[in-house]
Amino acid sequence: MKKRIVLAGAVGILVLLAALTAQSLIKSGEEALGTRKYSDFQTPQFCGTSCHGDIFQQWKQAMMSQAYTHHWDEIEYFKLAVPHGEKDKAFKTVADGCNGCHTPLAFMAGDVPPPRPEKNSRANESVSCDFCHTVTGFAGDTPFNFNFISEPGKTKYGPREGKNSPEHNLAKSEFLGTAEFCGTCHNEKSPFGVWVKSTHLEWKEGPYAKEGVRCHDCHMTYADGFSAAMGNRYPDVRQHLFHGAHDPGKVRGTIELRVHPDIREAEPGDRVKFTVALFNQKTGHKFPSGSVEDRIVWMHVQAVDAAGRVYHLPVDKKGFAGEEYTIGSDVLAYQDMGIALDEPDFKGVPRDGIPIGDRIFRMPYFDPQGRMTIQQWNTKSQGVDYRIGPRETKLETCTFTLPQDIAIGPLKVTAVLNFQKLVKPVADFLGVPEDESEIIRVNEHATVIEVVD
Ligand code: HEC
Ligand code: HEC
Ligand code: HEC
Ligand code: HEC
Repeated sequence: MKKRIVLAGAVGILVLLAALTAQSLIKSGEEALGTRKYSDFQTPQFCGTSCHGDIFQQWKQAMMSQAYTHHWDEIEYFKLAVPHGEKDKAFKTVADGCNGCHTPLAFMAGDVPPPRPEKNSRANESVSCDFCHTVTGFAGDTPFNFNFISEPGKTKYGPREGKNSPEHNLAKSEFLGTAEFCGTCHNEKSPFGVWVKSTHLEWKEGPYAKEGVRCHDCHMTYADGFSAAMGNRYPDVRQHLFHGAHDPGKVRGTIELRVHPDIREAEPGDRVKFTVALFNQKTGHKFPSGSVEDRIVWMHVQAVDAAGRVYHLPVDKKGFAGEEYTIGSDVLAYQDMGIALDEPDFKGVPRDGIPIGDRIFRMPYFDPQGRMTIQQWNTKSQGVDYRIGPRETKLETCTFTLPQDIAIGPLKVTAVLNFQKLVKPVADFLGVPEDESEIIRVNEHATVIEVVD
């Protein structure tokens, strides 16, 4: 009897070991290059037209299905990253690695650089159904740099068990429901060892992780309905929305603004201090997050007097180290674009493209020469992190000395928070279509004081 238990135990351990080694034999991250074929994976069209029509249409509209084909991705990859990798071989692996997250099938198939989007190859599938639904875990302790473990095959992983479809076997995966799964692509380390994308890490340190609110709860919300034609009806079908910075409706209202004065009545020549409270009500990570090197969030404050004259109120300096990167200026930056463009003496373009003196909520990225860069792969260090954390409130002040000729009567002061996905001077310089640098008004608030004689 005892013997049998020992034997069963030994067999059990062997089976476990075999399973563990099988997973550890699967290459992940950079090592997965060229370890699979496109034909190991079903196309999204197949999943979408056979059974999951509704999820397919949601995915089609999300950035997930455009991670390789979207204009700015194509421009940054082919105009900057690929030529950079050709000029400086140290960056070749990094440029290949873009595909590990943006078109993982192409990367695993060794199809790098993939054909241009206009060629309509399978690289265009971007982050596809069968890619996500055959991921089984990640290698190491921290998810980052596409270190997911991909096991394509007849078994598809999802949130439910027991219900097998005619097409595939279904297995319940705890992993797909975790933020770590998202982190395999939403955390990125540059070749200089700098965290240049850390949405998952920011979430993990913030209040939402502690409360068990995952990425999915804000980006893949639940609704009553069907997840497959002829399938069961469920009260909690995961919606494949993945709405983020490219959805103005998601961005609007992210931060709530309130502005108040220190005195309600003032005479020409008086100094009035306006305080703006900016409260991050909506994001589970910092704002902005993700492609922080591209994004710009800034507060513009202006006053309008009773005669309709407009005054711009620059933000008061706080005096912290690196603050100059958080106040709108006309200095030039991003000179390292000159490497890929074959212009070693490139002077750069204006850093911000917003009114001088406005407060910017950002974290600057620096190239090995210490110049600000939008090339996250060429990032050797970072400056002050002046983004707005989840549920954080930041206070900013603008002190305004009322001009002698200001109109007597009400003075209305408005604070506006704006967001741009890509700094405008860079977008214009590289020919990125306008929607990438459109101004999204996140929120605004106004207060009124009385100017008296
Ligand atoms: C970025 C990864 C990703 C992509 C791309 C993706 N899914 Fe999902 N899918 C998920 C995650 C995560 C869940 C939910 C897992 C959980 O909550 O445990 C899910 C859930 C599902 C479910 C179960 C829904 C339910 O609640 O019963 C189906 C069916 C599904 N996906 C089909 C698809 C199809 C079809 C596509 C392509 C059109 C697709 N998925 C694309 C990650 C993805
Ligand atoms: C295989 C890598 C990969 C995985 C895994 C992944 N993503 Fe993404 N995701 C991307 C890429 C690449 C983009 C950027 C698309 C673009 O703008 O080109 C993106 C875009 C997004 C966006 C849109 C952001 C915007 O700018 O509008 C959201 C939201 C998002 N992902 C959430 C998630 C969530 C939630 C999960 C986990 C359930 C997840 N992602 C898993 C690679 C991935
Ligand atoms: C409490 C809700 C909430 C949670 C939890 C959450 N997000 Fe978000 N996320 C948002 C909102 C709101 C936005 C839009 C504002 C913005 O662009 O940052 C957003 C934006 C994004 C963006 C675009 C960021 C940018 O500025 O370009 C990405 C990518 C993203 N989320 C991924 C994730 C991932 C991955 C997780 C989990 C690790 C996650 N989110 C958790 C609410 C949430
Ligand atoms: C570890 C995964 C990962 C790697 C590696 C990676 N990216 Fe991304 N990339 C993402 C994710 C996730 C987003 C979405 C972040 C967000 O929405 O803020 C993104 C966003 C972008 C965007 C902005 C898209 C937009 O419209 O705002 C561009 C451009 C881009 N990546 C290009 C590249 C290039 C070029 C490389 C290689 C040098 C690269 N990426 C490497 C995951 C990755």
